[in-house]
Amino acid sequence: MKIGICTGGGDCPGLNAIIRAAVKHAVGTYGWEMWGIKDSFNGLMNRPYEIRRLEISNVTDILSKGGTILGTTNSGNPFSLKKGSTGPSDKSMMVVEAYKDLGLDCVIVIGGDGTQGIGYQLSTLGINVVGIPKTIDNDLAATDITVGFKTAVEIATEAVDRLQSTAESHERAMILEVMGRHAGHIALHAGIAGGAHVILLPEVPFEFKAVFNKLKQRRDLERKYSVVVVAEGAYEKGGEPFFTKSSAGSQVLGGVGEYVAKTISSKVGIETRFTVLGHTQRGGMPCADDRILGSAYGVKAIEMIKRKAYGKIVSFRNGAFDEITYNDVAGKFRPIDATDPFLQTAEAIGVCLGRTTRWLESK
Ligand code: F6P
Repeated sequence: MKIGICTGGGDCPGLNAIIRAAVKHAVGTYGWEMWGIKDSFNGLMNRPYEIRRLEISNVTDILSKGGTILGTTNSGNPFSLKKGSTGPSDKSMMVVEAYKDLGLDCVIVIGGDGTQGIGYQLSTLGINVVGIPKTIDNDLAATDITVGFKTAVEIATEAVDRLQSTAESHERAMILEVMGRHAGHIALHAGIAGGAHVILLPEVPFEFKAVFNKLKQRRDLERKYSVVVVAEGAYEKGGEPFFTKSSAGSQVLGGVGEYVAKTISSKVGIETRFTVLGHTQRGGMPCADDRILGSAYGVKAIEMIKRKAYGKIVSFRNGAFDEITYNDVAGKFRPIDATDPFLQTAEAIGVCLGRTTRWLESK
């Protein structure tokens, strides 16, 4: 067997753990050939092809390395290439041509919803694909966990911890904006882990009234500092998410942290500072959980190829590894559910989610 492997979309910690496990299992157990494709599907769209043979020796020291040894891009959709790229905007047939020409039997597509969507479209053109879910946002439908999430939560938690002490020293409200697109998993988990006093999520449009009350209650009890974690996709009840322009000119989520900080300072009179954690959440060493999950997903993908279970994505749900179809994922995402136990956990211990509850600060 001759297998291609690529990473698409935004990078995240743990991608190399997946690549390493897939290569080790395919080459070591089955004696197959593994080929790394550069920058998502670009390596198959470009001529000459940008691919390289992956041997076990190429992956021996990458387990704890951040990023992806294959490179990635989130602007390389072969079906609709962005302006600025050369040639036609649809180069999908070039990918098909390369797949056939190279004699590949399957491509392992490591990615989030966007990349998996591309994988699915390619499968309809006759390419065998097997998907592996990754994204720090943990928002892929039909899987409970994606590679990269746990590390992002660790990084964001450390940021909350650090903000706690400086907030206390200066008696400020520190606002931390974290990633996650339109899902608040990172904010909720890091907020709970770091002991944030307020967590604002896209799934719970917030009311300033509730946030102000929480901060005032804390101030009245002589806890003159607070830490507020805001998911980048959070927005005020009746309002809209905040967008800003990336350096490439595209619209990206961002700005809600600054808005919350300015509103608190002007309306409650507490001094505020805001921090946008940004891409530190995606960089550097994967935590142990992401290395383990990535290794298991890599192995599972090879097992699926062995069984010719193509057109499916590896997943982990309800405590067990599973295989999901592209239909389970296509056009969907996984926001925090209203019955999410961690939402309940947060509110039960007095975290304000930007809505009014009966919880009261006490001495
Ligand atoms: O999907 C992962 C993610 O990090 C989101 O949390 C964030 O909104 C986005 O990617 C940032 O993308 P980029 O790297 O293109 O700025």
